[in-house]
Amino acid sequence: MEQKPVDDANPSPELTTHGVGPWQGDRPDDPRFDPELLEDGDSRNVIDRYRYWSMDAIVADLDARRHPFHVAIENWQHDMNIGSIVRSANAFLAETVHIVGRRRWNKRGAMVTDRYQHVLHHADVSDLVAWAAERGIPIIGVDNVPGSRPIDEEPLPERCVLLFGQEGPGLSAEAIAASERVVEIRQFGSTRSINASAAAAIVMHEWVRTHAIRS
Ligand SMILES: C[S@@+](CC[C@H](N)C(=O)[O-])C[C@H]1O[C@@H](n2cnc3c(N)ncnc32)[C@H](O)[C@@H]1O
Repeated sequence: MEQKPVDDANPSPELTTHGVGPWQGDRPDDPRFDPELLEDGDSRNVIDRYRYWSMDAIVADLDARRHPFHVAIENWQHDMNIGSIVRSANAFLAETVHIVGRRRWNKRGAMVTDRYQHVLHHADVSDLVAWAAERGIPIIGVDNVPGSRPIDEEPLPERCVLLFGQEGPGLSAEAIAASERVVEIRQFGSTRSINASAAAAIVMHEWVRTHAIRS
């Protein structure tokens, strides 16, 4: 799978956490541990289970248990939401994030989670459609447009691409046409819409609620 290289000119800063100091006692010989982190301590923004693990070891562990939903976002005007969408995709363990349109995206909100997340670029909607069709994965558009159905009315498919529009225009006509169905989050106030990254987090959690939470 092609993974986007880290773009040094457009860094994704990581706020350090209190973390843990240098490893105390005998060094573990588990190859997942990173010798430098054992030596210096680990203040990365990772869950405690991954403390001192190398990035490669963390990605391999995530890859072994990723959820079968994908997230796609249209990026025609450098949408500022993409970083936080990538961060939520990491938190909810999406398979891959697909950037449709411009290749470059603002990584600041990702807080380095992009390094643990598969990210694919598609030049246009037809490229995404071909990618999904080849794998038999339905595209579910997410926007509050005429014809959208409330997301709580029908479960999301287990394997799917959840396709979001960008701030301002929302989903393009091509994206709506490519979607098996378009779902919306119910709203009750005066604003026309919520922020795209907030919508993405809600919809990803809806997938998790339906498919990943066992009672
Ligand atoms: C700011 S909205 C823009 C378009 C919106 N249709 C409008 O009429 O203003 C940007 C993106 O956020 C997501 N979004 C925002 N509010 C939503 C809602 N209530 N239901 C589903 N998606 C929403 C969609 O993916 C949408 O394309």
